[in-house]
Amino acid sequence: MHLARAALAEVVRHFEHHVEVASTNDRGMALARDEQIALPALVIADRQTAGRGRGANRWWSADGALTFSLVVNVAANAMPRERWPLVALTAGMAVCDALRPLAPSVPLAIKWPNDVYAAGRKLCGILVETPATPAGRVVIGIGVNVNNAFATAPDDVRSRAASLVELSGRPHDLDAVLTAIVGELVDLLPTIAATPPAVVERWPSYCLLTGQTVEAQTPAGTWIGLCQGLDADGALILRDEVGKRRCTTGTVVRWGPG
Ligand code: BTN
Repeated sequence: MHLARAALAEVVRHFEHHVEVASTNDRGMALARDEQIALPALVIADRQTAGRGRGANRWWSADGALTFSLVVNVAANAMPRERWPLVALTAGMAVCDALRPLAPSVPLAIKWPNDVYAAGRKLCGILVETPATPAGRVVIGIGVNVNNAFATAPDDVRSRAASLVELSGRPHDLDAVLTAIVGELVDLLPTIAATPPAVVERWPSYCLLTGQTVEAQTPAGTWIGLCQGLDADGALILRDEVGKRRCTTGTVVRWGPG
């Protein structure tokens, strides 16, 4: 990761590369709580022994995958608190923007709220977490299947994940992928404060679900409806027989035409 460290020297003020760590998000949360650490801070690991996904999920990855967390201070660029949920969506957009030029043949889309899919399979997962204090600090954890194979993966991962090497037919330089994603992310995060935020305005060209019938598990129950895109605050809009439903948190478990 020497090349990435040098390439990102202008944008990242604290850089850690670990051969092995439990979870880069755990380490990122510790850095976020420490007011002495200069931000943005980047934690990258060759291997995680306890990678975490959203909710109670684990994040499985093998050698050749990219796993890192970027710690940022969103309060620093005058971003109002109600916009913070857009950080996760923006991270998905940054991953797509970074990977599209590196693998132009791979059709990328965001499955709301923040998984990146390619050819019907999950290529990248994003986990955004915030410490209680200091306010305004956000840890953006990103796992991208870059050069990894799935031979030793659990069945559920093998059946629904894909890596860039499989989809594009060639291996990719991890330093270059990391540098591109972090560069895009650092550029895009301040745009969340704009009106309308770039991620809301540009969502139609990234959304995997718009125009599809979607089943979402939400705290209010399971909703099935036609996805009509994104609301101004990042909520997914579903239309069913009751009318317009705004999904602010939840998981999309099924989607398809009709
Ligand atoms: C998900 O798909 O539910 C989110 C997965 C997020 C995985 C990344 S890998 C780097 C960072 N460290 C973690 O423990 N998780 C995130």
